[in-house]
Amino acid sequence: MRRPELRWRSAAVAVIAALSLAGAGAAGVVRAADAAAGGEHAIERQDWSFAGFTGQYDKAQLQRGFQVYQQVCTACHGLKRVRFRNLAEPGGPEFPEEAVKALAVSWPYQISGVLDDQGNPIDRLPGLADPIIGPYKNDVQARAAQNGALPPDLSLITKARNVESHAGWYSQWFFMLRDMVIGYQEGGADYLYALLTGYYDPPSSMQMTEGMNYNVAFPGHQLAMPPPLSKDSFVEYQPESGVKGSLEQNARDVTAFLAWAADPSLDGRKQLGWQVLLYLAITTVLLYLVKKRIWSRVKH
Ligand code: HEC
Repeated sequence: MRRPELRWRSAAVAVIAALSLAGAGAAGVVRAADAAAGGEHAIERQDWSFAGFTGQYDKAQLQRGFQVYQQVCTACHGLKRVRFRNLAEPGGPEFPEEAVKALAVSWPYQISGVLDDQGNPIDRLPGLADPIIGPYKNDVQARAAQNGALPPDLSLITKARNVESHAGWYSQWFFMLRDMVIGYQEGGADYLYALLTGYYDPPSSMQMTEGMNYNVAFPGHQLAMPPPLSKDSFVEYQPESGVKGSLEQNARDVTAFLAWAADPSLDGRKQLGWQVLLYLAITTVLLYLVKKRIWSRVKH
């Protein structure tokens, strides 16, 4: 006869399995419902070269992304935690140093508040060691120019944003577990891509505040930022890059560039991680063989 506690145990396993299935099923229904509602809240996951456990940045994409940042976003946003010299360092866009030097001195905004020989604050041209600054000297000036809204510094934006889950409490844990298994960390990038491509005409039921723009990805859907890219206004790439500019391509590239800006050591970190795992695996085998050898003389 089976022991009673065994029966309890198998019953518990059956209940957990049933709950998992129900959770997964319900999650599917939630997704479908979201999509049916015009995909208003659903932020789609994109394919990023830097995703998962092994992903790395695509240098050419980072270069294109910088071009988009430089030609479009610098009009309002700074990138003050990135220095010009970072653009030439390994693991990033890796522009030639000479080109970055030339870029720094021709940057449209100057470094202010530097003291001259007499102790008077002056403005000067940026150099390789200076941060990539935006047009505004401080937040008050930025708000005054942007109708009261503050364009945030974009250095850490892909880390500061994420995709909000709209799954119910009963299926939430299923998605969390799945994301841990696949190593999903690109919520910020997925949100940013959805934001840049998410401008539409507002639905007729929505009362828009003056000067605000309707965006499906932005929480509350009213955003002070006018569409920086659109179907007929985007950055064209150099023909030798072999990539055609478009709203989607620009959004994807500038997002990848900003993901690098927020996490510039990703490439090296992931490489080192795998090397450490390999090292630990070899050490484990060696220790096991040593242990066998040492204990082989002991009778048991
Ligand atoms: C004309 C000025 C302007 C330009 C050009 C511009 N932005 Fe903005 N951006 C703003 C303002 C203003 C806000 C603040 C919006 C708000 O708080 O409603 C903002 C906010 C943002 C945010 C934060 C959204 C959030 O979730 O809070 C991101 C991300 C962003 N911009 C990215 C970009 C990128 C990338 C580009 C270039 C492709 C760009 N912006 C170009 C003015 C601009």
